[in-house]
Amino acid sequence: MSENPYSTAVLAWYEDNARDLPWRAPDASPWAVLVSEIMLQQTPVVRVLPAWHAWLARWPTPDALAADAAGEAVRMWNRLGYPRRALNLHACAKAIVARHGGAVPTAHADLLALPGVGTYTAAAVASFAFGQRHAILDTNVRRVLARAETGIEYPPKTPAKAETRLAESLLPERPDVAARWGVAVMELGALVCTARSPKCADCPILDRCAWVLAGRPAYD
Ligand code: ADE
Repeated sequence: MSENPYSTAVLAWYEDNARDLPWRAPDASPWAVLVSEIMLQQTPVVRVLPAWHAWLARWPTPDALAADAAGEAVRMWNRLGYPRRALNLHACAKAIVARHGGAVPTAHADLLALPGVGTYTAAAVASFAFGQRHAILDTNVRRVLARAETGIEYPPKTPAKAETRLAESLLPERPDVAARWGVAVMELGALVCTARSPKCADCPILDRCAWVLAGRPAYD
């Protein structure tokens, strides 16, 4: 593939601007990453932080959670919302113990087979926990790519196949760089290329953003 025209600028921006989130630490365990991704599916970072710390202090491994009652997981979930996710995590822990000897599986297909783990979460864990090369398409990334590449303010409600192809075509070759690129674009969408009032002046790819070049047309 030709080199991704954004990667250097976006990776440099990430280096200087990324939030220091504990599940991104190099020593975060795959289980800690999986728990963070399930919590972040529908809950903002600031509310996830204390819940994530409490959860991992109590259940630092899948074995620990699998040995406890599902009701305890729901109780611990507290006010994160969508408590089905607590049951899913408990079922994940059981499945990880039963099928994978207690270690979070590394293969995308095995991750996808876990309860409550969809395409995005499987790719995120494979990429962030295991340094694999997968396209990461969450809401933030989809918005950045829609603007920068397609010139439209918001992506379609349902992710299209073309978006996956586009995200895959932009993946840097080296898996570790691809993993960093994934979280960097996500962060750019969370901090700069926001849904409302994007801070285009702070954007590292402002000069090549198709939406900006088109005059930031409003979504219709
Ligand atoms: N870092 C890694 N995954 C993330 C997510 N889903 N949301 C915010 N920050 C993250």
